[in-house]
Amino acid sequence: MRFAGSRVVVLGGNSGIGLACAQAFAREGGAVRLTGRDRATIEAAASGIPGARGSSVDISDLAAMERFYEEIAAADERIDVLVVNAGVGGFALIEELSHEYWDQVHAINLRGCVFAMQKAVRLMGDGGAIVVTGSIGGHAFVPGNVTYGAAKAGLALAMRQFAGEYVSRGIRVNMVSPGPVETPLLHRNPRMSAEAVDVLREQMIAAVPMKRMGRPEEVAAAVLFLASREASFITAANLFVDGGALEIG
Ligand SMILES: NC(=O)c1ccc[n+]([C@@H]2O[C@H](COP(=O)([O-])OP(=O)(O)OC[C@H]3O[C@@H](n4cnc5c(N)ncnc54)[C@H](OP(=O)(O)O)[C@@H]3O)[C@@H](O)[C@H]2O)c1
Repeated sequence: MRFAGSRVVVLGGNSGIGLACAQAFAREGGAVRLTGRDRATIEAAASGIPGARGSSVDISDLAAMERFYEEIAAADERIDVLVVNAGVGGFALIEELSHEYWDQVHAINLRGCVFAMQKAVRLMGDGGAIVVTGSIGGHAFVPGNVTYGAAKAGLALAMRQFAGEYVSRGIRVNMVSPGPVETPLLHRNPRMSAEAVDVLREQMIAAVPMKRMGRPEEVAAAVLFLASREASFITAANLFVDGGALEIG
């Protein structure tokens, strides 16, 4: 029960890694608020987690995020743990890259996540923890990954900046960077057929020394560790949860 009495906000908590985080925090006593955009999965997620509340908030809509935090403040709640996990995937080779695609991904994966953290720290006190979901894609060459990789690399830099600028307030900021994990993300690329997704999945497994995809629960375990008091001397760290893909793949 490492999070008994803690108020935990999971941005992007209705699916995949974020859902596993929300469930795990609640199992350990946390009072969870989770967000996403899709109302049906938000309701299903929140109703399956004791005490959890769900809100449909697009992280790229800065005014909507402001309203979300105002609601938390109006309820006289603080935030003890913020998990910044919302993100979209997708691939586009440089030769087929459009401004629209770049802006769409970055508005969520970089700009949205940064301003979500900026607004949340006002509601956090001494001992607060932020864990951001990065990706090994922000650190390695992957064909078609310039947009997503640049956003996640930018997010890693932002994570370090937040860690430095808020250390004096007792807020720790860390990142968990997964390798390939079995979640709906892989199937959300409208430009890829089901067969192409299967091929990509096999390629990703081949590139992982452990020769398998990760499970959302394995990423959640790392998120909970970094958010917990067990990690009280850890800030600005980037923990790779990737079966060895980045370092020994
Ligand atoms: N799966 C992997 O292999 C992998 C590897 C490395 C990093 N990651 C990162 O892990 C994080 C979670 O991904 P996942 O694999 O668990 O995929 P997922 O199941 O598709 O989950 C993505 C989450 O982000 C939310 N989200 C997306 N756009 C949003 C927006 N504009 N506003 C609010 N919420 C939004 C989704 O909710 P809605 O759909 O309802 O908006 C969902 O909760 C992402 O940041 C992803 O980049 C995943």
